[in-house]
Amino acid sequence: MLRIFTRLIPHILLIIFSCSTVLGSPENDDRRDYIVYMGKLPDRVEVGSARYEDLLSQVLGRSFVPGTVTKIYKRSFNGFVAKLTKNEADKLKGQQGVVSVFPDRILQLHTTRSWDFLMPTKKEPRRKLAETNIIIGVVDTGIWPESESFGDAGLGPVPKKWKGVCNGGQNFTCNRKIIGARFYGSELDARDNQGSKTTAVGHSVNGFPSTGNIPVVYGKDAGQGTCDEALLKSCAEGCLAVEKVWKKILVCDNVQFGTLSALDSGAAGLIGPTSTPDVAFVKPIPFAALSTGDYSNFLSYLNQTRAPKANLLKSETVDDPTAPLVASFSSSGPNYNFPDIMKPDVTAPGVDILAAFSPRAPPSNSAGDTRRVSYNVLSGTSMSCPHVAGVAAYVKSFHPDWSPSIIKSAIMTTARPLHQNGSKEFSYGSGHVDPTKALEPGLVYEITNDDYVKLLCTLGINAAAITGKNVSCSKLPKLNAKDVNYPSVVLAVNASQPFSFNITRTVLNVGPPHSTYNASIVAHPGVKVAVFPRTLHFESSGLKKTFSVSVSGVAPKQGEVLSSSLVWSDGGHVVRSPIVVYSP
Ligand SMILES: *[C@@H]1O[C@H](CO)[C@@H](O)[C@H](O)[C@H]1NC(C)=O
Ligand SMILES: *[C@@H]1O[C@H](CO)[C@@H](O)[C@H](O)[C@H]1NC(C)=O
Ligand SMILES: *[C@@H]1O[C@H](CO)[C@@H](O)[C@H](O)[C@H]1NC(C)=O
Ligand SMILES: *[C@@H]1O[C@H](CO)[C@@H](O)[C@H](O)[C@H]1NC(C)=O
Ligand SMILES: *[C@@H]1O[C@H](CO)[C@@H](O)[C@H](O)[C@H]1NC(C)=O
Ligand SMILES: *[C@@H]1O[C@H](CO)[C@@H](O)[C@H](O)[C@H]1NC(C)=O
Ligand SMILES: *[C@@H]1O[C@H](CO)[C@@H](O)[C@H](O)[C@H]1NC(C)=O
Repeated sequence: MLRIFTRLIPHILLIIFSCSTVLGSPENDDRRDYIVYMGKLPDRVEVGSARYEDLLSQVLGRSFVPGTVTKIYKRSFNGFVAKLTKNEADKLKGQQGVVSVFPDRILQLHTTRSWDFLMPTKKEPRRKLAETNIIIGVVDTGIWPESESFGDAGLGPVPKKWKGVCNGGQNFTCNRKIIGARFYGSELDARDNQGSKTTAVGHSVNGFPSTGNIPVVYGKDAGQGTCDEALLKSCAEGCLAVEKVWKKILVCDNVQFGTLSALDSGAAGLIGPTSTPDVAFVKPIPFAALSTGDYSNFLSYLNQTRAPKANLLKSETVDDPTAPLVASFSSSGPNYNFPDIMKPDVTAPGVDILAAFSPRAPPSNSAGDTRRVSYNVLSGTSMSCPHVAGVAAYVKSFHPDWSPSIIKSAIMTTARPLHQNGSKEFSYGSGHVDPTKALEPGLVYEITNDDYVKLLCTLGINAAAITGKNVSCSKLPKLNAKDVNYPSVVLAVNASQPFSFNITRTVLNVGPPHSTYNASIVAHPGVKVAVFPRTLHFESSGLKKTFSVSVSGVAPKQGEVLSSSLVWSDGGHVVRSPIVVYSP
């Protein structure tokens, strides 16, 4: 069940990102770093901060303090960082050329929050020549370039289009897979100190032990429970005198605290509760995590037994018949910034992912863990996102001319529907990625640059600054988020009110030239969905056809979701779009 993502070997670009930051919510006259985003880079980039200081002095008048600009962006976009009060930042918003102003803050790595997914096991065909020409950019905490996973055997030369550099610090050598690296901020090199993992471009590694043989947790012979009731409840310091715990299994309500205590005191193992029983964690000592129900039964055994005993056995791999399922800890939407655009779009493997790991960091996140490994099992969005990046690169290697929106549509409409689970209802709509199916989606929903410009204008965002083009929003038709040609339909409605929408979508035939697709609808009992027309004929590939979907009914209670779907099929291809109605 644990498998390294082996399918993709494109070239990799690595960027280390590190933000300097002030945390906390400031009072109005506290100064902190604000990022002032001003859209596309001008054709001629001026050196120095004078231009930005001018802007600040004009807007802030007498309160302007020279030298407040602490950083200038001149590579990917136009903007700067300045030490401002909240009032000053608010004044800057809405100035000519200013798209947005927001506080600089530390972005946490998402290592324990993600989506569940089951790896497809089928062997897909490969396009090695095309893969060699695809570059994936990664912003992460770093990489271990010597890892066997990033060997460049079988790869062609570095793509000619590559204009970057290998500047990963002392001793950091690139090859034909890792073709570039940079580090930023306070980092000393592009090596990973934190033990994140790069799963998008790994490949199969010989001689790897098969699952089960992986000594993540192993058993020792029975040790005796040592915690008395008081200890069980709090695991307070003092209860853990070494002679009490030595070579015994510690039982702790607080697993985080218990791990350090058990490690320090030489315990044989640790047993504790977990609120996320669907995820495994690597610990520095033998460890069993019990669901809250099992833990409470276990506590009564402990309470009722004079000399309680436990035995931690080797981990076993079992197939979970409910997979793929959105993991209990995963974010499951909706999209709070744009309630009418579905998030998550898809799910991908993010739980118990085995891949290359940095030997600079311990395999568990416990301070006392002195082990160093080349491979590790982690869970989270950081594990899930690279799978989707990898699938996108894989699709691109077969269809180099497909735009990002076409590739995204191909991945979304071929994703397999998830098992439904009440606690993660919003994710019903999104399926889990199927790389093989995504290669031949049949029909795709394409979004053009013009669509994005109309959407920005409709949202009141400075489209001219972002695109660097002469955009005159007042002359463009409005485009609301729900009307963007997205591969899914999401309707945010007022709780318990009747609603009725008529949505238009356009599909592009990327499949066989002569094909006829019929619509089928699986509607939630509380929703009426109708499609017009119900049949789409294509006489050639590259043709576009437009249809409308009317969705009506009575909105659910606040926070509830009504999930339906529309499927276009020509008998072979299955093009599925979720239709989600919810009350924010
Ligand atoms: C560079 O790598 C070599 C070989 O792995 C090692 O012996 C040396 O100590 C490294 N130097 C630094 C500065 O890390
Ligand atoms: C242990 O047993 C005592 C008395 O039998 C009871 O009051 C207490 O709630 C029990 N504690 C647990 C954790 O089951
Ligand atoms: C749904 O999720 C809950 C909590 O995560 C779990 O207890 C339950 O068994 C799941 N139901 C199904 C049908 O998978
Ligand atoms: C932008 O376009 C408008 C017409 O749409 C034109 O009047 C104006 O001069 C243009 N501005 C620039 C800077 O090209
Ligand atoms: C929800 O209610 C508000 C206020 O009554 C109204 O302006 C808005 O159009 C309604 N939205 C929908 C989707 O019906
Ligand atoms: C929905 O919109 C389409 C395209 O504008 C139109 O042809 C159709 O009649 C509309 N349907 C309803 C039920 O309003
Ligand atoms: C589409 O519907 C028509 C009419 O009901 C039917 O004859 C045809 O077989 C259907 N095609 C597919 C691929 O389901």
